[in-house]
Amino acid sequence: MLVLTFVGKGGSGKSSTAINTAVLAMLGGYRVGVVDTDPQASVQLWQAYRGQKDIPLQMCRPAEVRELVDQARRSQFDLVVIDTPPQMDRSTAVTMALADLVCVMTRPGAFDLSVTLSRTRLAERQGVNHAVIINLAPPVRNGVDAPLVADLRDALKINEAACWHGQLTSRVAVPAALANGQGIAEFAPEGLAAAEARRLWAALERRFEEKLHAIEA
Ligand SMILES: Nc1ncnc2c1ncn2[C@@H]1O[C@H](COP(=O)(O)OP(=O)(O)OP(=O)(O)O)[C@@H](O)[C@H]1O
Ligand SMILES: [Mg+2]
Repeated sequence: MLVLTFVGKGGSGKSSTAINTAVLAMLGGYRVGVVDTDPQASVQLWQAYRGQKDIPLQMCRPAEVRELVDQARRSQFDLVVIDTPPQMDRSTAVTMALADLVCVMTRPGAFDLSVTLSRTRLAERQGVNHAVIINLAPPVRNGVDAPLVADLRDALKINEAACWHGQLTSRVAVPAALANGQGIAEFAPEGLAAAEARRLWAALERRFEEKLHAIEA
């Protein structure tokens, strides 16, 4: 079983990306569940809009996450996606430590970087893999990153933070899908936002396969 924990500054897209990832995993035939430790309960709201519980969701206090992850493992889930609150405290650190991969959501611009680096450094200290995921980015034009994104990638590199090579562009279809109780891949499967979400899922799925092979070997 793979555990993906989404962390990052407030509003960086943790809940949206956790949901879009869980939906893609479900569509790919994986048994996926979501654990939400954020009292804002964004995923619960989305599930209410969805009107069905095909992706099981468990709200929980951070102290309960470890037991829930163990339960999911016993119930033979393939993937657990964990959404976390924006503020970092000891309990979010515990949730990070349970992850096979910590996805650090980040917007380009002046304010996210220091929060992002505090998360990647914590993951390093914990010995947990991390990947920064650039979200709410200006579009790539003619194959070239927007200057803000290029600057962010440079800063991440200098600080030795691992970054997914793609980006999630700011697109209105993303909140529209969520408000409709869908993932972007269900709402507008042919659109550019869904294509980016699939690219991210493909990268995350590779981690899954690597882990399975490591267990089998
Ligand atoms: N790629 C995107 N394009 C457009 N809007 C987006 C994108 N990603 C997220 N959003 C929107 O940005 C806002 C913040 O996203 P979201 O709630 O997922 O962030 P969060 O990190 O979970 O926030 P919080 O810290 O409050 O939990 C939401 O309105 C969401 O719909
Ligand atoms: Mg959230």
